[in-house]
Amino acid sequence: MRVLVVGAGTMGHGIASVCAASGYEVDLVDVSEDVLDSARMKIGWSLKKLEERGAIKSAAEALQRIKTSTNLEECAKTADFVIEAVVEKTEVKKEIFRKLDDNCRPEVILSTNTSTIPISDIASATKRPEKVVGLHFFNPPVLIRFVEIVRGSKTSDEALLKTVEFAKSIGMDYIVVEKEVPGFVVNRINVRVFNEAVRLIEAGYRPEEIDAVVRYRIGMPMGLLEVVDFSGVDVLYNVIRELANRGMDVEVPETVKRMIEENRLGMKTGRGFYEYEGFYSRAKILPRFAYRLNPLSLIAVGINEASWLLRNGVATRESIDKAMVLGMGYPKGILEIADDFGLDNVLKALEGREADPLLKQMVSEGKLGKKSGEGFYKWIYEKKEFGPVIYEKRDKYAVITMNRPEKLNALNEEMWKGLNRAFIEAENDPEVRVVVLTGKGRAFCAGDDIAVMGSWKTFLDGKDFFTGVAVPLLNTIANYKKPLISLVNGIAFGGGLELNLAFDIVIASDDALFAVPEGLIGAIPPIASSLGLAVLGRKMMRYCLTGDQMDAEEAKQIGIVDIVVPKDQLEVTGVEFVNKILRLAPLSAKAIKETARIYRDVFGFVVEKGLHEIIELIPTEDFAEGMKAFVQRRRPSWSGR
Ligand code: NAI
Repeated sequence: MRVLVVGAGTMGHGIASVCAASGYEVDLVDVSEDVLDSARMKIGWSLKKLEERGAIKSAAEALQRIKTSTNLEECAKTADFVIEAVVEKTEVKKEIFRKLDDNCRPEVILSTNTSTIPISDIASATKRPEKVVGLHFFNPPVLIRFVEIVRGSKTSDEALLKTVEFAKSIGMDYIVVEKEVPGFVVNRINVRVFNEAVRLIEAGYRPEEIDAVVRYRIGMPMGLLEVVDFSGVDVLYNVIRELANRGMDVEVPETVKRMIEENRLGMKTGRGFYEYEGFYSRAKILPRFAYRLNPLSLIAVGINEASWLLRNGVATRESIDKAMVLGMGYPKGILEIADDFGLDNVLKALEGREADPLLKQMVSEGKLGKKSGEGFYKWIYEKKEFGPVIYEKRDKYAVITMNRPEKLNALNEEMWKGLNRAFIEAENDPEVRVVVLTGKGRAFCAGDDIAVMGSWKTFLDGKDFFTGVAVPLLNTIANYKKPLISLVNGIAFGGGLELNLAFDIVIASDDALFAVPEGLIGAIPPIASSLGLAVLGRKMMRYCLTGDQMDAEEAKQIGIVDIVVPKDQLEVTGVEFVNKILRLAPLSAKAIKETARIYRDVFGFVVEKGLHEIIELIPTEDFAEGMKAFVQRRRPSWSGR
């Protein structure tokens, strides 16, 4: 079978390589021998790479299957399938399709690699519009094994199916784009996200901060602006302009226009969004730049566009997601990302911009994504209450919420017991692989309920409470076999801080406050002064001995907190870390927790010592006075003594 590829530029030569590598005889046509010579060289090079990787047997044989020519009419006569990849100019393409139509056998399918021109526009130049199909590759086709197959308004089912078969035969995965909207699926979403990135730069974010979010939080192999610098700011500029000309409501941002005027075209001119010294230099994008910007601030507009595509029947949700994964290197589909982060949060991130009606409707119906069991997709979801503790299973993870907001989620007996039952529930469910703890309202947890502690009169009251109520939860957490994430959404005092010492990853909102003020009321922070000291070192002592508060950044410096994010990012960051852990092999995650047994042994040993000390304090005068003074909101009698 002979494939005719028209146009031997960036895309045409790559497409010809892919076809030849798959065993087809290829005619590659362009306007001049010079262009064809240069294409042959590039093809030789990329086939060699394929051979080195073991993807093809012989580069030389594949190269021999490609014939180059400047005679379109002649080659058209023997073609069995045509792929056009000439310049993005409607008139040039139409002229070529006229010639193809005149010379190709009537049953031959004529496909076009256009990025922006409506298929039916090109098809109108032929007498076989039902056999004209969009076959949109990504650059470079040899590496990105994915195409968008686009149905023009007159394309027949048969032609579409044959094109699908052809795409498969050259090793390409594909989606079908049912309507020829400008930009199809991938470019439409891309252009939105890119324009948003530029808007964020105009609002004061640095390119490194944006790309750090893309690389280290969204999980793409390269930063968005890095990619644009690599492929050329002018290339993207042209795509946006073309899409705007064809009726998509986008504009080229002023910053991009200025970059074009100043010849800041990316790597090829040494300057784009970044500065480059030599061809091999790379932008410095460090992970620590990633936590100022909310990932949703960047991709909410892409999700909004995906919602538009879905609502307008351009592609199915599965196709949209597959396109972004295979065409753009997203770690998962953009609609699944939306379901992960919560559609309510997506809507919030769109901030006064026109949100797609489908998105708004889903939020108003409570379809928020994984956290409600349904968003763009349906998810496994279960909700249970254990006293003041809410337990939710969301797909592959569980969220446990302390729900006594009016008491700042203080740890009374029901809270301790409810937490223990919720953690056990999550531990026993084989589908749950990560567990998240957080607090409802403005506090994470204000610590032990003083009303309970103040009621203890004897040594035994406290001992019974600790051994019967607190220790079971501490044991559960200390021996937990699944990764634990804590989302500290507000104050974490006393026991509220101490729980975090036993968690694997602690993420705090920037307004969270931490303290262990028990000494001020005649008690002690038994876990902070034992386990805290053992795992964080001497630094914890200052806080145990003074009751001083620390903000989230200070808590991070000490080592209680791992990540501090603006409050509106806390939930999203929690989801992000759940997903990061879910990327690990389940057995690896399990084994890592298992090797943490050393830590658990320390936990058991030191906490026992801490509990022993606090129980000893209960029958003392200081303890009784401290509790009373706290309830009466006055200084205890020893204060200032
Ligand atoms: P290019 O400018 O690198 O190559 C176009 C080639 O077409 C040139 O070699 C030119 O000599 C040739 N040509 C012009 N008029 C011709 C004619 N009458 N007959 C035969 N050959 C002719 O452009 P590129 O980037 O390869 O783009 C080609 C098509 O692929 C465009 O429709 C573009 O929108 C589309 N596309 C481009 C992508 C990219 O990343 N560059 C990605 C996906 C699609």
